[in-house]
Amino acid sequence: MQKENMKLTVIGAGNVGATVAECVARKDMVGEVVLIDIKEGLPQGKALDIYQSAPIHGFDTRVTGTNDYADTAGSQICVITAGLPRKPGMSRDDLQKVNADIVASVTEQFVAHSPDSIIIVVSNPLDVMTYVAYATSGLPSNRVMGMAGVLDTARYRAFLAMELGCSVRDISALLMGGHGDSMVPLPSYTTVGGINIRQLIPDERLTEIVERTKVGGGEIVKLMGTSAWYAPGAAAAEMAEAIIKDSGRVVPAAAFCKGHYGLNDLYIGVPVRLGKNGVEEILDVELTADEKALLNASAAEVKAGIDQFEQGRASA
Ligand code: NAI
Ligand code: 2OP
Repeated sequence: MQKENMKLTVIGAGNVGATVAECVARKDMVGEVVLIDIKEGLPQGKALDIYQSAPIHGFDTRVTGTNDYADTAGSQICVITAGLPRKPGMSRDDLQKVNADIVASVTEQFVAHSPDSIIIVVSNPLDVMTYVAYATSGLPSNRVMGMAGVLDTARYRAFLAMELGCSVRDISALLMGGHGDSMVPLPSYTTVGGINIRQLIPDERLTEIVERTKVGGGEIVKLMGTSAWYAPGAAAAEMAEAIIKDSGRVVPAAAFCKGHYGLNDLYIGVPVRLGKNGVEEILDVELTADEKALLNASAAEVKAGIDQFEQGRASA
């Protein structure tokens, strides 16, 4: 399809959603970005503001805002950011209940107008919300995925670049598991210009950097009283680009496991190859027994959230 005829919808015009819309618009890879929110005026205002930056940045993407899903019809791709960010004092369970209702509702409304779309979920708790979107969309599992690993590895790579004084571009890393404190950064799959990270940073210091990465989202919440948006928005836009350009990029993302890593029927962060069909492939890489144990522990947390969602659906 010609790029001019492609449409990408961002649901939720808050901090992350508006950043996704801006990053996608600046990449000039679709004809139109539609920003939709439940709040009247907000998506229209942010869309206009972003589009008014087009003459300065020099992009041609149209950016529009709406409260009506009819305007999202025919989207090839959608990024869901609707929902509350976690505030101090709010438990993960509280957040899950509120956001599951929101994500289910926006997914249903979106899919009714764009039945063949690919969905990237950003709303938290990420892995469970991705499952919610999958379960309510009726789409095949490869067309629904969650953004977390691109952000978490970006944080990890940024911390490593700060430590080593090297370019972030030369740092390649893999991280698996759920998007939370139980995520599993993998130093064995972390390289700088092809050199394994263990040859460059002593174990003790590397452990500190890994631990900082695991609470990287919380570090920003503590500083600002709300969660991050620049890096999350850029990360979701990067995944959308890989899908739109059918580039075959290999990144960590929440994907639906069917026996991969011994995990079944849940979304969790694993290495995937992205292309025009969404998740083209989940890559099975070797893990040590310790890494596998950490992944299993993280999967158990995600599964508990999914079970809670399914119980709520069954009793509704
Ligand atoms: P925000 O509060 O700035 O924006 C959320 C937007 O969703 C608001 O504009 C709100 O009006 C809208 N919304 C709420 N209910 C809606 C509905 N039913 N239909 C349409 N829009 C609706 O929050 P922010 O900072 O943009 O975060 C959004 C979500 O992304 C949060 O759940 C946050 O925890 C999550 N997040 C996830 C990350 C990840 O790595 N996966 C990283 C950063 C944030
Ligand atoms: C983040 O990692 C809180 O998920 C959000 O910034």
